[in-house]
Amino acid sequence: MDARSTAPVPPPGCPAHTDGGRVPLYGPEFQADPQAYYAYLRHFGATAPVELAPGVEATLVTDYATALQLLQDSGSFRKDARRWRHLNEGLISPDNPVVPVLSYRPNCMFSDGAEHLRLRQAVTDSMARIDARKLSRTTEQVSEYLVSRFAARGSADLLGDYARQLPLFVFNELFGCPADIGDRVLFGITGMFDGINAERAVEVLFGAVGELVALKRAKPGEDVTTWLMQHQAQLTDEEMVHQVALLLGAGTDPLGNLIGNTMHRLLTHDRYADGGGLIDEALDDTLWDNPPMPNYAPHYPATDMEFAGTKVQAGDLMLVSFAAANTGPNLTAARESGSNRSHLAWSAGPHACPSKEPARQITVTAIEKLLNQLPDVDLAVPEESLVWRPGPFNRGLTTLPVRFTPAEPVRRTAEAPQARPAADAAAEPGGRKRGGMWSQFLTWLAK
Ligand code: HEM
Repeated sequence: MDARSTAPVPPPGCPAHTDGGRVPLYGPEFQADPQAYYAYLRHFGATAPVELAPGVEATLVTDYATALQLLQDSGSFRKDARRWRHLNEGLISPDNPVVPVLSYRPNCMFSDGAEHLRLRQAVTDSMARIDARKLSRTTEQVSEYLVSRFAARGSADLLGDYARQLPLFVFNELFGCPADIGDRVLFGITGMFDGINAERAVEVLFGAVGELVALKRAKPGEDVTTWLMQHQAQLTDEEMVHQVALLLGAGTDPLGNLIGNTMHRLLTHDRYADGGGLIDEALDDTLWDNPPMPNYAPHYPATDMEFAGTKVQAGDLMLVSFAAANTGPNLTAARESGSNRSHLAWSAGPHACPSKEPARQITVTAIEKLLNQLPDVDLAVPEESLVWRPGPFNRGLTTLPVRFTPAEPVRRTAEAPQARPAADAAAEPGGRKRGGMWSQFLTWLAK
């Protein structure tokens, strides 16, 4: 289907076919062809009525200029999710699967005004202290380690074996996690995003981050956790735990999907076949057409108002479709003539992603290093058989099976592949297990 078509035809399987109601951003049809849904949603105008999960209603902004207007007007549209009217009125069950992603936590993503400025400044200043050369070196080491676990096989799942793992390892290093805490962080984040025993995973993650904060108070290091702690914003322990958990959560899953979606693009579009210099271009094209966070930036109107021709009430849930805004039919010319980076994949305004530079750097380095080690890597299955993860907020493949000429690891041989981190650390209560993924990496590195 043409991504830029505006024909008001509900996509196959969409209940809007029958009852003219809200358009669901979930289910196998949405997951298989979200652009067909965005094309349909545009016939409502700049905003459209959607459902994020059964019973969770929202207004979705699909137009680029209107999205910018909302994102830049922090007086009219607030981030504090305690304003969410339908949740407060009990219309949404607290165990609805989208509630953990949308509900309030005391971090910069969910705060407004002076509180937001204070927390965000601590985050941006601390992330800015990351040394770009060291970040590249860490990313390369993790890449070598992960590839050494499957290089001899001649086949791999680039998502599960590489793209989703690499950010977790790099973040453990950036945040100065010692082995046992790092293993539990890996377990917590993986479990949270896989939705496997998510409640337990969140508990393990917050427990591990709490220990990390206590450790860095006692023994500061050269890492983001310590820099956050030393920041003039003087974060309390509770604020520290929430900002670190946000950075780990907000960073790792979209980063894994950015690596995966860019690799998918490189492997499925002939025009990138010439190699090296085109990774940056494939990355930008991915951010335009297939962004890892396709629909997010939850905001709540401060008062009842009319916005882009639609009446909204104070506390209504409003989201921005970065994926729809980026592919709007009027944008093509601007996109070709203007800056190739004016997409909304990182959002815009005061809450725009504060980490796009390190995220870009990790992604490009991870892909370059992978292609250096496995130069003839190729898709192992027909493109049509690839399956995308469900849900409105994340866009990423479930697996990306590839094949390549079996290779000798660049250096040192990793131990035989073991279970993925969730299963690994889950082997003991609290995820406390000697020799989890992070410990194995540290042992490999020290060899
Ligand atoms: C190094 C990895 C990353 C880190 C540490 C990170 C961290 C963050 C943080 C802390 C925020 C909240 C900012 C605020 O509310 O003031 C944020 C927002 C955001 N990030 Fe990132 N991020 C990373 C990677 C990514 C990636 C790969 C994407 C997708 C391309 C992305 C897209 C976004 C978007 C769309 C928002 C706005 C969310 C909203 O308004 O609710 N981020 N990020």
